[in-house]
Amino acid sequence: MKVAVLGAAGGIGQALSLLLKTQLPAGSELSLYDVAPVVPGVAVDLSHIPTDVKVKGFGKDDLATALTGCDIVLIPAGVPRKPGMDRSDLFNINAGIVKNLIEAIADNCPKACIGVITNPVNTTVAIAAETLKAKGVYDKNKLFGVTTLDVIRAETFVAELKGLNPANVHVPVIGGHSGTTILPLLSQVEGVSFSDDEISKLTHRIQNAGTEVVEAKAGGGSATLSMGQAAARFCLSLVAAMRGENVVEYTYVETNSADARFFAHPVRLGKNGVEEILPYGKLSDFEQKAKDSMLEGLRGDIKLGEDFVNA
Ligand code: 2OP
Repeated sequence: MKVAVLGAAGGIGQALSLLLKTQLPAGSELSLYDVAPVVPGVAVDLSHIPTDVKVKGFGKDDLATALTGCDIVLIPAGVPRKPGMDRSDLFNINAGIVKNLIEAIADNCPKACIGVITNPVNTTVAIAAETLKAKGVYDKNKLFGVTTLDVIRAETFVAELKGLNPANVHVPVIGGHSGTTILPLLSQVEGVSFSDDEISKLTHRIQNAGTEVVEAKAGGGSATLSMGQAAARFCLSLVAAMRGENVVEYTYVETNSADARFFAHPVRLGKNGVEEILPYGKLSDFEQKAKDSMLEGLRGDIKLGEDFVNA
């Protein structure tokens, strides 16, 4: 398995690369790309960890080499939020970064599965899809917005509130990856019941969790360590699925549903990426209302990405 991390020297990229260096199956290769001059150093640093995963660093002129032969490409590159910013405020800078990286993927490893982490994910995934389409290599089964952080946050917060071991708590989270487009399905958490007040407060906390980190970091960026963990979990699930295991993850993919072109669903992963998009099941009245009122915003976020490439 060859995995590339684009933006490997940043906060998410370094955490993610560390987790992959220690957890990818033996014999894997890790290709670390960044425009920051520290990236060869990050690769050397990681290479001293004794696992059977080869690590190589690639600087700004070596993107093509970094990508050649990759099975999976993860993209955390770009700028993070500062207090007071919404994920959509990052569009002006990150849209172009994602488009350039995706063009290079189309040219050098068009069959790779791509996990987009760069915000605003609701929009950057649409940019990636349209860029791949323009290059004639779009496969909707191989493009993912990584929304795993919403799932792990939801599981952590539910476990905290109910005094449970988070390892045994599973919370479906559908929709997008920003504010109210993040929709945790608390009505489907097995073995746990919530009061209306708990549902309202927990839903808000899960939707606002990224901002909780941005504010706590007070100008120092957004979530990096938990995002690294979430992206590593998603990548390792994809690796396991590509090696024949049966794995389901919630992730933001192109769907045929009436909700929106891209929507996070439970997805059965397989050798070629998406094996099957599973239904997200019955929603409570609260969840149905929350979904109805966020769809227009999500569709707008997606259109912004489509127009960025096609206009
Ligand atoms: C978050 O939710 C960085 O978007 C990421 O914190």
